[in-house]
Amino acid sequence: MDLQLTEEQQMIQEMVRDFAQKEIAPVATHYDEVGEFPLPIIRKMGTMGLMGIETPEEYEGAGMDTLSYVLAMEEVAKADVATSTIMSVNNSLFNYGLLHFGTEAQKRKYLADVASGRKIGAYSLTEPMSGSDAGTMRSRAVLSDDGSYYTINGRKSWVTGGPVADYIVLFTVTDPNAKPKHRGVSAFIIDTDRPGFERGKVEPKLGIRASATSEILFDNYKVSVENMIGKPGQGFKIAMTVLDAGRIGIASQALGVAEAAYAAAIEWARQREAFGKKIGQFEGIMWKIADMKTRIEASRLLIYQAALGKEASKTTGARFTTEAAMAKLFASETAMFCTHQTIQIHGGMGYSKEMPLERYFRDAKITEIYEGTSEIQRLVIARNELKLR
Ligand code: CAA
Repeated sequence: MDLQLTEEQQMIQEMVRDFAQKEIAPVATHYDEVGEFPLPIIRKMGTMGLMGIETPEEYEGAGMDTLSYVLAMEEVAKADVATSTIMSVNNSLFNYGLLHFGTEAQKRKYLADVASGRKIGAYSLTEPMSGSDAGTMRSRAVLSDDGSYYTINGRKSWVTGGPVADYIVLFTVTDPNAKPKHRGVSAFIIDTDRPGFERGKVEPKLGIRASATSEILFDNYKVSVENMIGKPGQGFKIAMTVLDAGRIGIASQALGVAEAAYAAAIEWARQREAFGKKIGQFEGIMWKIADMKTRIEASRLLIYQAALGKEASKTTGARFTTEAAMAKLFASETAMFCTHQTIQIHGGMGYSKEMPLERYFRDAKITEIYEGTSEIQRLVIARNELKLR
């Protein structure tokens, strides 16, 4: 594995670090407190190419590689995890699916808008009664008699960007009799401006409060067959393929917030004194620092490995499912570990809203849950290793 960053990768890393620290970090606490979607920041990131890092230039993306995407995600997450969530959903869950499974017309009409940041994209798989077991969804799309459109009814939940999204990649059942049931799921591009689409309850969340998560509702929403992504019944596989890419983004944001917490821990341990010494001179603190650093660097290696796997897949078509799941699993648990330990090292100050550490801790938790819980990542890894089914 070649770990030497190219000039282009170093350039995007520095550019995003500079932007994130100057323009995102100072307002992150405000957006967290008010729970407002940071639209001006997202628009600006769009003009910088950050909403379509791997999308080819012909569709108004930056045309860069997966490692560049990972590096950029990490830098944004160091400043604010919620903003990196929005970036991840648009880059991975929306753009990647459309790029790989969309028609040329769909790419021209929808991908360019989202990759340039003019429009906000979202991804909708989960339903109130269908989370980890994603194949059990109840929403339905019924084909019209003349075969020209589908009518969609149902309720989807936990849609990142749901309150503001312009376009949504939606997974719903077109064949309820399919066996196994996941082969009855199809994917569509939804234009939220059309009748029959409604935004539902906004979720009051523990963390990533600025990323705006809501239910979305379909009441006899009509969508042209031209908006189907892939073929009828191919939706579940598209959803899974896209999540493989998405999980690398989530791993990168987990790494970013772990590093932000770690940097604060180092600074505090070097300055704070107790019992006549810097607290970093106590073994109890040293062990925490050592464990944090080791887990952070191990996460980075797993993420780079997954990113290289995804990059290679562009030419070989080989899957990188296990690599992505391992990176997400380890990095998200590292983010929880580091944000937890950093608060412990800071004591009362870590618990105070005067520092961003409690936000890091609240934000880190979601990385163990969305785009597949840690339990689902373990299941994916183990199944792929055991090959029993
Ligand atoms: N790539 C391509 N195809 C895949 C695949 C992958 N990674 N994983 C599975 N498949 C295919 C299988 O080959 C199989 O295909 P066939 O029809 O040819 O047999 C089919 O998909 C079904 O696979 P499984 O039998 O393994 O399916 P399962 O029902 O046992 O479920 C699962 C597998 C891994 C548990 C899956 O349901 C899963 O990942 N669940 C978690 C869902 C999730 O991550 N949800 C988060 C939603 S997004 C979000 O968080 C919101 C947001 O906005 C950020």
